[in-house]
Amino acid sequence: MGITRDLSLAKEALDRNAIIAIPTETVYGLAGSAFSEEAIAKIFALKKRPFYNPLIVHIHSADYLTEVASDLPESAIALAHAFWPGPLTLVLKKKASIPDLVTAGKDTVAVRVPDHPLTLDLLKQLDYPLAAPSANPFGSISPTRASHVQGYFGDDLEVILDGGECQRGLESTIIGFENGLPIVYRLGSLSIERIQAEVGPLLSRTLDDTSPAAPGMLSRHYAPATDTLLSDNVEQLLFSHSGKRIGLLLFQKERHGRPVVHQEILSPSGDLEEAAKGLYAAMHRLDELGLDLIIAERFPDWGLGRTINDKLERATKI
Ligand code: TXA
Ligand code: MG
Repeated sequence: MGITRDLSLAKEALDRNAIIAIPTETVYGLAGSAFSEEAIAKIFALKKRPFYNPLIVHIHSADYLTEVASDLPESAIALAHAFWPGPLTLVLKKKASIPDLVTAGKDTVAVRVPDHPLTLDLLKQLDYPLAAPSANPFGSISPTRASHVQGYFGDDLEVILDGGECQRGLESTIIGFENGLPIVYRLGSLSIERIQAEVGPLLSRTLDDTSPAAPGMLSRHYAPATDTLLSDNVEQLLFSHSGKRIGLLLFQKERHGRPVVHQEILSPSGDLEEAAKGLYAAMHRLDELGLDLIIAERFPDWGLGRTINDKLERATKI
């Protein structure tokens, strides 16, 4: 076993409360039955995730929503219709069917319908939804290919369902509701502009490390093992760190002049969606080069550029 495209192997493992890796359009997930405390406990243990950090529940269609959540605000229904299947997670009032372990004791549950044909097929064959965090050890870069998951967990997973390269490449955008009003908990693959076009202006939670509404908001997260800096002025950082083995993470253009070990260019044509899709794979590659430092360029602060900057800020140690 290991990496496979065989859904029957995946179903068989999940039915006996084992956990497996699943592809989604955002990142790979570490999945188990959302109705099984045994499976959920295995996810937390393998990921070394603190129990205060709740999981996202994946369902096969909006029709299933009432099995896991209740008291749906009107704007939640509008968003589900507009964007599911897709990279949008809604935080809603939880039903008793979902164990407290999944939601870290909260009375809300995070839910989404992933837009990946293989995983949608799998979900339709199961009698339960799948709880799944991103398939990386807590705090490290999310996986966008089956090989990344294999690199992290190797033989600890009997099934890694291979759905190819993730088409979005960044996590889902998380929206909660306070007094019926939508509020951004985590920037992600669906831009704020697109969400606002459906439901109007969005509130946003300020960062709070002590009691994060969504721990995806923790200030240090998604980090490569290599020291990483984010800057508007890459030239200046190259100058002040001369003599080090440096890798660059850039939007459109390669740098000439000061020599570096490696440069990753995310989108020569300046397409933010293309850049988002390739971001984590580029971070994985840079992290494998044994560099002293990664210097990332700040992206334009609109659309998915905002999400990319947010992820890069969290990757920055200091
Ligand atoms: O794209 C994604 O969302 C991927 C794929 C696998 O679906 N999943 C993902 O899961 O990114 P994870 O566990 O890495 O991030 C889940 C985020 C965390 O920041 C968690 O705190 C938040 O969702 N979350 C889950 N339940 C919540 C709740 N009830 N209230 C607030 N935030 C919640
Ligand atoms: Mg994650």
